Amino acid sequence: MIEVAVNGYGTIGKRVADAVCKQPDMRVAGVAKTRPNFEASAAVKKGFDLYAAIEERKHRFEEAGIEIAGEVTELVEKSDVVVDACPSGVGADNVSMYRRYDTPALLQGGEDAEAVDASFNARANFEAVAGADIVRVVSCNTTGLSRLIAPLREAYGVRKVRVTLVRRGGDPAQSNRGPINDILPNPVSLPSHHGPDVNTIFPDLSIDTLGLKVPATLMHMHSVNVTLGSQPNAEAVRELLEAERRTFVIPEWLGLEGAGAITELAQDAGRPRGDIWENCIWGESLSMVGPDLYLFQAIHQESDVVPENVDAIRAVLETTSRERSVERTNAAMGLDEPLTPTRM
Ligand SMILES: NC(=O)c1ccc[n+]([C@@H]2O[C@H](COP(=O)([O-])OP(=O)(O)OC[C@H]3O[C@@H](n4cnc5c(N)ncnc54)[C@H](OP(=O)(O)O)[C@@H]3O)[C@@H](O)[C@H]2O)c1
Repeated sequence: MIEVAVNGYGTIGKRVADAVCKQPDMRVAGVAKTRPNFEASAAVKKGFDLYAAIEERKHRFEEAGIEIAGEVTELVEKSDVVVDACPSGVGADNVSMYRRYDTPALLQGGEDAEAVDASFNARANFEAVAGADIVRVVSCNTTGLSRLIAPLREAYGVRKVRVTLVRRGGDPAQSNRGPINDILPNPVSLPSHHGPDVNTIFPDLSIDTLGLKVPATLMHMHSVNVTLGSQPNAEAVRELLEAERRTFVIPEWLGLEGAGAITELAQDAGRPRGDIWENCIWGESLSMVGPDLYLFQAIHQESDVVPENVDAIRAVLETTSRERSVERTNAAMGLDEPLTPTRM
């Protein structure tokens, strides 16, 4: 059994801990928190050992009546791997601790690529992180784009990618984010940093991106144009993407008009927390104009990186192949159960 520590038990960390629990070859060694709150209470209720991320604040758990198993350094030392899902920047600060205890660690997409030995996406570069010490599971947006670009490159070649990312202002629980009533070019300088981030997965890819922020919390939306190396028809591209394991090509008959309806679908399907782990591509939007592919895809920012973290654990520890890992992760999480009764 792979012993997995989760340091940073928030939006991403708690989802990764739940996904790890479901895997036949791993278990959660413990989770680390800085303070007692509703998430600490939920972790204890689930039976996770709770470790204090900041020694001086240990007494706050005791005062709240929450038992602490130890300090985060003890958790790091005894674990085979750490998933660090701390807020952006904190993960990079934690790297020296992981190196000190010689425990491989997965940081998240909020960290700079320079903070890690390699960046990871299961579909695109699983083998590239084998044996690495510090790896970054790329951001939700870069994960969504990598899953899309990898099969297109393999099947047709890609000459140029252009994407406009319409990004949610914050996650549902982030009351301090926005905008509340505005549409922000963000970042306003172009092209945006998202393209170079995709280049951490595909170094030789020509990609330009633009970013906006809107008053929404549900999902990100990508407006995508890919100039392919050949000219397949739209139906062939659709079949290619339908055959992928983490893309959901939305059939027209579902009547999913936007992210809100997709969220409802996931909740109706009984997905935990209403999570949508796969890229959601509108089938009607899939169009070819000469060599240019156009499509819209929605990305659930809170959950698409979760199966990627599970695969990254196996990739770093070199316990199995990409195909086997993705198959295991999907089966254990329920990702293979289609969101719809039929795929049309
Ligand atoms: N949410 C997304 O949309 C999303 C998507 C993809 C990737 N990411 C990336 O994933 C990472 C985590 O993001 P998130 O959205 O999960 O953030 P989050 O919801 O704020 O969770 C992070 C958690 O880390 C804990 N924490 C803070 N300082 C800590 C420390 N020194 N040691 C241990 N734990 C600490 C906080 O909990 P306590 O202080 O209560 O312990 C907090 O709940 C970031 O790099 C982010 O960019 C986020």
